Amino acid sequence: MQAKADGGAAPVICIDGPGGSGKGVLAAALAERLGWRYLDSGVLYRAVAVLALDARLGLDDEAALARLAEGMDAATEGGRLKLNGDDRTEDIRKEPVAESASTVARHPAVRKALLQQQRNARRAPGLVADGRDMGTVVFPDAELKIFLDASAEQRAKRRRKQLRSDGMRVSFGAVLASIRERDGRDSRRAASPLRPAESAVVIDSTAMTIAEVLERALALARRRRLGAGGAAHDINQP
Ligand code: DC
Repeated sequence: MQAKADGGAAPVICIDGPGGSGKGVLAAALAERLGWRYLDSGVLYRAVAVLALDARLGLDDEAALARLAEGMDAATEGGRLKLNGDDRTEDIRKEPVAESASTVARHPAVRKALLQQQRNARRAPGLVADGRDMGTVVFPDAELKIFLDASAEQRAKRRRKQLRSDGMRVSFGAVLASIRERDGRDSRRAASPLRPAESAVVIDSTAMTIAEVLERALALARRRRLGAGGAAHDINQP
């Protein structure tokens, strides 16, 4: 098992799950309620994808993609992403970038290049980390692991609503197809596939509100005596 990144001081709660399961909303709300830091690890894969698309790199060029990941400076503040000095917040949320992120995330060398950046976010008073492999690979010794799931249809509904509120008009069928394709790629890849950690608590949020999911997660955190309240810290900073 991996040693704790900071010598054992900072506790971690992992929220893993497929796209559109609501893990980002849950993780941010949980961090806010606990007064902990929040790491959205998907942003890092999306950032590599944006840079690869900028540079017209082939998404199969593992070595070049890993070099991009190693050299990039990605920092989030107030919900904005500064990538190599530029604000790319809107760019990383576009569907082609999500697709490409899932493709670049297949490469073990890219995942390895991003590992330490993710572990560096583990600082006092604690970290809520969301992604696909937070509980299985990045923070295997986390104090609490939650795997948040929902039906593909429900996730497509949520994703479409989110895209529409960001001003993008897309059909339900297109969003559902893209979600299914991404699920397949994220779950079937050899490197750190999407799956619940052995000790993860699986929550199916299909018929639950955000408030209900948050209450459930807070109850699980309380049972493990995690968190004392306060304001959330911002994220992804090395
Ligand atoms: O969570 P998200 O939709 O922002 O993630 C974008 C892509 O990045 C997703 O399709 C898979 C990949 N990803 C990953 O492989 N591992 C993570 N910890 C987070 C995201």
